[in-house]
Amino acid sequence: MQPALWQQLDQAAAGIGQMRAGRSLTAWLPTVAPRLRPGVQALSFHVARHLGQALALRRLLAQRHLQEPVDALLCTTLALLAGEPAMYPAFTVVDQAVEAARRNPRTRAAAGLLNACLRRYLRERAALDAAVQGDPQAQWNHPVWWIEMLRRDHPEHWQLPLRAAGQHAPLVLRVNRQRASVPQVLARFEAAGLPAARLGGDAVELLAPQPVQAIPGFAEGHVSVQSAAAQRAAPLLLAGLKTPAPRVLDACAAPGGKTAHLLEINPAAQVTALDSDAARMVRVRENLARLGLQAHCVVADATAPAGWWDARAFDAILLDAPCSASGIVCRHPDIRWLRRENDIVQLAARQDALLAALWPLVKPGGRLLYCTCSVFRAEGAQRADSFLRRNSDAALLPSPGHLLPALWPRGEPVGDNDAYDDGFFFALLEKIPSFPSPS
Ligand SMILES: C[S@@+](CC[C@H](N)C(=O)[O-])C[C@H]1O[C@@H](n2cnc3c(N)ncnc32)[C@H](O)[C@@H]1O
Repeated sequence: MQPALWQQLDQAAAGIGQMRAGRSLTAWLPTVAPRLRPGVQALSFHVARHLGQALALRRLLAQRHLQEPVDALLCTTLALLAGEPAMYPAFTVVDQAVEAARRNPRTRAAAGLLNACLRRYLRERAALDAAVQGDPQAQWNHPVWWIEMLRRDHPEHWQLPLRAAGQHAPLVLRVNRQRASVPQVLARFEAAGLPAARLGGDAVELLAPQPVQAIPGFAEGHVSVQSAAAQRAAPLLLAGLKTPAPRVLDACAAPGGKTAHLLEINPAAQVTALDSDAARMVRVRENLARLGLQAHCVVADATAPAGWWDARAFDAILLDAPCSASGIVCRHPDIRWLRRENDIVQLAARQDALLAALWPLVKPGGRLLYCTCSVFRAEGAQRADSFLRRNSDAALLPSPGHLLPALWPRGEPVGDNDAYDDGFFFALLEKIPSFPSPS
């Protein structure tokens, strides 16, 4: 039996409260009872996509400061009422939100106030929606600092990632070349009645979303879930390498999407997959096992190679650095509310430290691909520029630079790039071999 909407609303509001206290919805959702979880995820993600609107409406509707469980329930309900497309009829949402307030001892006393605010919103909706339109946080459903950073960083295209962040993420798969071809996978999907489309390279979009485990060929390692933008990394790094069995380091590897892609393209590559997070490294091992691939897996800090490096230089290093994840907001709609502007400065310092520590490990003539799933220049082009200024033995090879997420299915190209499902940055760096000085 479907759980009642009021129960899901109560839980979704709890999740939004947690999110506002700094916890990611992805980390919090496993604490929700399994029978409620799918509905609560759908509601809380929808709320995160429309929270800017809800906060502005709440300021107009509630004259006084509300305590957290009540405020979270009010904002959750307003986001559901105001956010389009609507998930439920408006009167059902209001009725069930008041029921949720009554049933929860922490919100019971405020059920009347909640009812009054919500019914006023339904009566005066047009005027209230118009009144919040001038507020950029309400219009774009992102914090103002984020909108301003995008405006500065991408003056011609700043609205694209904001619009893309309002949509549901497409389900894009990577075909494991070692086990299947793209036409074989498409034929299997067609036979199963699942519409799918080739996106280029190893990428296929499944047009009817499925639970991952139910995707034909997933358990046998024929396909993995990975965005089309993320699938740019491995071929870019491997393309120009001259050795047939290159030594490759994936320095921030977990959960292993790009490690696996490297090995699917070149199973002879000797890949070291390194990550500082032991729990996430378990997922690298599981993914490689499912796909029938092998890497040397190491749990260690990439900025301290003395602890794990055998002093043999690498032909290629992939540095998919920790970042704000501002390019994958359509998959994780809470990210925009979890990040603070100051985080970007701190992340940039970590990215510089990783680049500085790993560069000495690259062979002369070898390559390092620096990438982040961020749309901010401070984590992309600015890091690469600053690295190139400080390292005269580094040269930038032709690289995609910033990919911007756009409305899906793909629209017009953005600058020199196609529009992508995720935002990413790629800079491919080559270590210039040193020439012996003339005697
Ligand atoms: C963007 S994720 C990597 C995603 C991965 N490349 C993939 O495609 O599946 C960044 C990873 O960097 C790891 N990390 C952060 N700081 C690190 C460090 N100093 N040394 C090693 N790994 C680190 C995090 O644990 C996280 O798993």
